[in-house]
Amino acid sequence: QTRRTPFIAGNWKMNLDHLQAVAFVQKLHWTLKDAGHETDTVEVGLFPPFTDLRTVQTLVDADKIPFALGAQDVSAHDSGPYTGEISGAFLAKLECRYVIIGHSERRQYHGETDEIVASKVAAALRHGLVPVICVGETAEDLETHGASAVPVAQLEKALAGLASGSEVVVAYEPVWAIGSGQAATADQAQEVCAKLRAVVGDALGADAAARTRVLYGGSVKSGNIARFMREPDVDGALVGGASLVVDEFAAIIRYQK
Ligand code: G3P
Repeated sequence: QTRRTPFIAGNWKMNLDHLQAVAFVQKLHWTLKDAGHETDTVEVGLFPPFTDLRTVQTLVDADKIPFALGAQDVSAHDSGPYTGEISGAFLAKLECRYVIIGHSERRQYHGETDEIVASKVAAALRHGLVPVICVGETAEDLETHGASAVPVAQLEKALAGLASGSEVVVAYEPVWAIGSGQAATADQAQEVCAKLRAVVGDALGADAAARTRVLYGGSVKSGNIARFMREPDVDGALVGGASLVVDEFAAIIRYQK
């Protein structure tokens, strides 16, 4: 089996302004250092609001802090008259490596359809960003179709038409588990993540499927992360609330200890 570097990603959502971000990133870095954390065992990704990106990028660059940077959304367009939009080119210039696309909060509150998600995924790749494609079923979907049907269909549409071998990250986030304190079980996560990996294989090829990190997200905490990480098809976590608390996020990053 191809070795995939585990990826622990903090989605800050609309929290922490740029001053709070500086304090947070420094404290997280020093907490991990003091604990003797070995940085190459896990990739740590931070997804702050757009207005923090420049500050966080300057800080991690100056202090050689080994956190990867990502944005929470990107425009489907490259430039032009799109008031309020942020292009992938701008993000790439800020040394973002990743961008979250299709988070359920964007699908729910901003009307993002599978078609919009697919065009944003294509835009991210055009600018050399790695899309972190979020998929997941609502409680209602779960009852009507079971756990995997909706996320599988969402991912198929997000990947349609991409070049074979394209680099993506997939995040399985059951909507009912987000911010609810009720995480999926490790078995549930494994079952869906394995199916999502198969979708990657069909769309992008077997090598890509073996390389692609598939994350679980939804009420991940220091107390449950190790259970998810023991599953063969779960390669990391996309963490919301718990990524805003330094000690808690550091403990999630150090799940192997
Ligand atoms: O993108 C991460 C997220 O939606 C999960 O949020 O607060 O349940 O960890 P939370």
